[in-house]
Amino acid sequence: MSASPAIETILLEERRYPPHPDFAAQANAQPEIYEREFEEFWESEGRERVTWFEPFTKLYEWEPPYARWYLGGKLNACFNCVDRHVEAGRGDKVAYHWEGEPEGERRDLTFADLQREVVRLANALKRLGVRKGTPVGIYMGMVPEAPIAMLACARLGAPHTVVFGGFSADSLSGRLQDMECEVLITQDEAWRRGTTVPLKRTADEALADAPSVRNVVVLRRTGGDVPMTGGRDVWWHDVATEDADCPCEPMDAEDLLYLLYTSGTTAKPKGIAHTTAGYLVGVATTHHYIFDVKPDSVYWCAADVGWVTGHSYIVYGPLCNGTTGVLYEGTPDFPDKDRWWSIVERYGVEILYTAPTAIRSHMKWGHEYAERHDLSSLRLLGSVGEPINPEAWVWYHEHVGGGRCPIVDTWWQTETGMILITPLPGITTTKPGSATKPFPGVDAAVYDEDGNEVGPAGGGYLVLRRPWPAMLRGLYREHDRYVETYWSRYPDTYFAGDGARIDEDDDFWLLGRVDDVMNVSGHRISTIEVESALVDHGDVAEAAVAARADVTTGQAIVAYVTLKGGRDGSVEMLEELRNHVARKIGPIAKPANIVFTPELPKTRSGKIMRRLLRDVAENRALGDTTTLADPMVVEEIKTRAATERTDD
Ligand code: PRX
Repeated sequence: MSASPAIETILLEERRYPPHPDFAAQANAQPEIYEREFEEFWESEGRERVTWFEPFTKLYEWEPPYARWYLGGKLNACFNCVDRHVEAGRGDKVAYHWEGEPEGERRDLTFADLQREVVRLANALKRLGVRKGTPVGIYMGMVPEAPIAMLACARLGAPHTVVFGGFSADSLSGRLQDMECEVLITQDEAWRRGTTVPLKRTADEALADAPSVRNVVVLRRTGGDVPMTGGRDVWWHDVATEDADCPCEPMDAEDLLYLLYTSGTTAKPKGIAHTTAGYLVGVATTHHYIFDVKPDSVYWCAADVGWVTGHSYIVYGPLCNGTTGVLYEGTPDFPDKDRWWSIVERYGVEILYTAPTAIRSHMKWGHEYAERHDLSSLRLLGSVGEPINPEAWVWYHEHVGGGRCPIVDTWWQTETGMILITPLPGITTTKPGSATKPFPGVDAAVYDEDGNEVGPAGGGYLVLRRPWPAMLRGLYREHDRYVETYWSRYPDTYFAGDGARIDEDDDFWLLGRVDDVMNVSGHRISTIEVESALVDHGDVAEAAVAARADVTTGQAIVAYVTLKGGRDGSVEMLEELRNHVARKIGPIAKPANIVFTPELPKTRSGKIMRRLLRDVAENRALGDTTTLADPMVVEEIKTRAATERTDD
């Protein structure tokens, strides 16, 4: 007789995976690492991981809520990621094995190739007036030129903002405007599941609302026909031709490296600011110990460069460590569902880092796809982006890792810049579903509402009580929002916005967001962003958004919509609104369900009771309804939700 799913989950969670002695013996992280004193740790990692033009004179300064690290130091991120490896005689080492989505399209870029390409683009950007401090936008797919563009900016000291290629024209223009970008780097089109994504056309639409952008550099990727605006748009291959020396700008430790926009609890995304030295030391150090990267390792972080995972663990961390990485342009199921496993086999990938949502998709497709390929090169697996359910963890361990690879479930955020809670392979006994321990030097805890530390008995809010090198340096031009979002709940303590509990072994279990941020396929989307996109449609009177659990995407978006004039919803309207949200934000924000309702549940003072909508979305018993102005409204919505479920 098979166990019920609930019982199986408990059993999986209770499994223990102690480190294998052979792995432990060769691991970059040895148990003493946890004994190292905080300042000594970051001081010596700072010297070891990074080459300085001028050494730092002070480790850090902490004036809550702002920290500064490696003060007095001068360095350049591009020099550290590219030039110094070439200078050390490793120019022939592969920096990226790139695999295009169309089958057979492959390109290996060595560190010397990377240097040449970066210099050419940097020279072109210079001629377009890009200098130290000039903000540059990047809107590209997963092509080698995306990291090249980031590095060319870093070389010149020009802060970049990368906008995920799946975002809409509105999302792109909002970011370009906020940062006042002067140049945009994009491509004609991107490949995705056998079709093309019109990046340049979307960029053109965005640029109509982003007057600060005076030039656009366009990479030819698919060769599709795209309009070019004379005097503004130039082709990458026409301008990035000059091999003349282009020195790396010496940057102050605290100079801005990039902004990355992420969803907060309002409709306006937050510009998370990361500076140069602390960020680089933080990502290189964590990459070294957590992924146990060796000089000849082949490492694949299967994220998109448009998200922080791509910034920290495809570009800056691995390249700073001189690691050979894999970049894959397309989706995991094109042309078939074994595409990833063919990539692992072809390049002999040792370390694979991905998100639970991807693991669950593979799990759904079946392990026969992984079995078609020799995955014996793998020796370590990683997970990031959302809590990993124990079933997916165990499936990953068995069917991808062949039962022999440690799994590192890494908790962090765009704001933290680097991984903060994670097992260290070779040291930590892992448990399916637990991110386990704070990284050395990280002071994480779980607090209750009143700021008391919660023990193994209960859950609470995840907080960080000491600064770390890669922490955000604030929100771009929004000091008050920075204080309010992260520092107002508890004095001088960072509030992460995640629920968590700590078990009797001091292991951390992350329980998901505690604010109005949803996590769909590992992408952060705020309920209010989606609500604003919905009410932007001319027929919508009111909208409220909640998330429900989804077996593949983690959470799925459910929208409750009241149409103007008391109109009833229809299948056509449902599709129209879903597409409207996709146009306003991007396809990732499309609601999975829309429930049309004559009214939304409100308190007597007119506040929408989202908590109740979450209960309806999750199909749970309703919580307290006594403050509702009209209790019948939720009953009506419940009935409608039950009949209108349109999962896709
Ligand atoms: O809720 C946590 C979840 O993702 C949020 C951060 O999202 P973002 O800034 O987009 O960065 C994602 C990649 C670092 C967190 O607040 N999260 C991330 N990693 C985990 C996680 N939740 C549980 N376990 C994780 N390993």
